[in-house]
Amino acid sequence: MRKYIFLFLLLGWSAGASAFVYEAYNGNVEFDHRFHRDKFACKECHSGPPGHMEFDRESAHTFCIGCHERKKAGPIKHCAECHKVS
Ligand code: HEC
Ligand code: HEC
Ligand code: HEC
Repeated sequence: MRKYIFLFLLLGWSAGASAFVYEAYNGNVEFDHRFHRDKFACKECHSGPPGHMEFDRESAHTFCIGCHERKKAGPIKHCAECHKVS
């Protein structure tokens, strides 16, 4: 039994952190990796071995909003749904 728990933890760890925060002067953006990962295959977002990705404003908007538009779900027009001003 303990062996399986270990395997589970290892898989969870290797699939990446559960959330990432992108700093932005107009409000930091939280990307919930786990939430998104549960909905899509890895290759929907990762080409090649899944790992770290670099974004700037334009590429992040294309990546994030682009998919929300394609799927007709998730924040698109309302900046504050992603950019949280606290
Ligand atoms: C789906 C989520 C999402 C939505 C909706 C969104 N953004 Fe962003 N935006 C991001 C992410 C992620 C970044 C961070 C990219 C990075 O790490 O440089 C970002 C970066 C930015 C930046 C650069 C900030 C900096 O510190 O350089 C600006 C400005 C910005 N967004 C404006 C907007 C405006 C205006 C809107 C609404 C019209 C908007 N965003 C809607 C996700 C979003
Ligand atoms: C909806 C898009 C999306 C899906 C689906 C997705 N990921 Fe990611 N993943 C990302 C983004 C964006 C990053 C980059 C975060 C960063 O590095 O700032 C990331 C980062 C990672 C990282 C690097 C973690 C780190 O700490 O740097 C790993 C590992 C990873 N993903 C594995 C997976 C696996 C395995 C799957 C499938 C089970 C998956 N991802 C599905 C978007 C996604
Ligand atoms: C491959 C497609 C895809 C990509 C890429 C993607 N998203 Fe999403 N996202 C979705 C979908 C679909 C939903 C809506 C899920 C639902 O409502 O059930 C969503 C929902 C969200 C939500 C709302 C979560 C909630 O609790 O309702 C936020 C915030 C969000 N995404 C941020 C981001 C950011 C930031 C990025 C880029 C770093 C990103 N997404 C990239 C598909 C994607």
